[in-house]
Amino acid sequence: MALFPRFQLFEIEDMPWCPSWLREYAHRALHQMWNTIGPGRTSSTAAQACDILVSKLPNEPGAYTFVDACAGAGGPTPMLERSLNSRLKVLGAKKPVRFLLADLYPDWAAWKKITSASENITHVNQPIDATTVERYVNDGTLECRLFNLCFHHFDDVQAAKILRSAVNHSDTLVIFEMTQRNLPALLNTSIVILSPLISTLLWFWWSPLHMVFTYLIPIVPLFFAWDGFVSCIRTRSGQEIRDIIAREEARGSLDTSEWTFHYGQTKVLPPFGNLYWFIGVKNRKD
Ligand SMILES: C[S@@+](CC[C@H](N)C(=O)[O-])C[C@H]1O[C@@H](n2cnc3c(N)ncnc32)[C@H](O)[C@@H]1O
Repeated sequence: MALFPRFQLFEIEDMPWCPSWLREYAHRALHQMWNTIGPGRTSSTAAQACDILVSKLPNEPGAYTFVDACAGAGGPTPMLERSLNSRLKVLGAKKPVRFLLADLYPDWAAWKKITSASENITHVNQPIDATTVERYVNDGTLECRLFNLCFHHFDDVQAAKILRSAVNHSDTLVIFEMTQRNLPALLNTSIVILSPLISTLLWFWWSPLHMVFTYLIPIVPLFFAWDGFVSCIRTRSGQEIRDIIAREEARGSLDTSEWTFHYGQTKVLPPFGNLYWFIGVKNRKD
């Protein structure tokens, strides 16, 4: 249950004046979270996200191309790709599943590294706005749009456009969030906020800039605290996302008669870390 109403506050990471080294730090922390195996778990957060995907998709995963529509620096896509394709290989799949990275502000350098490490991941060649895009893939596969830890960045007008575009032009929509307006999410976010105290030593021991801004003038922990708690305050519940879709449908701007929506949460990072998922699937006619 939400402890307080949602507010569209700003995150420092979204501001044009946010230094790129600070944004890189935030992306590394998100990457770390996707890669972490929580206590009592045998697989990473990303691998558990993969389990959720596979269990909710109505078709074989091999039927899809997965589009990371707001990929940032790549998020969990390399881990999802490895996890999904290694389990498909065990099942004897003939072809690997393909992933496509897209973003309005592409991180070409990060994407180049990712795509050169896996032939199953490619990236778009120009910025793509997820609010106005029609189709990303036209190769006969079904298009599954992934919104990883980013849907809360959009205000209601942008969120409605993204949902409209996904329902009108794709086959499946998946929103993953680790934040929410509830106590477990606030506690999990508090743990993430404390992470720079250790990760600065591990990742940036060579950098006086990171040392000063983490331990002497604690800009990094304050940045993590602001963006982390604002992410919680901005995240929509599954019902709130469903309500936006219902409003758009009432206005006649989308038709969900062929779609089924599910939402829920799965404990992936004990003791507090839940993955909040919202999945919409277009029912196939054949
Ligand atoms: C929090 S970051 C990405 C997080 C990433 N998915 C992860 O898990 O690490 C949000 C991303 O949304 C992108 N973005 C913002 N507005 C967008 C839009 N209209 N269309 C596509 N991407 C957009 C930003 O450029 C940014 O990379």
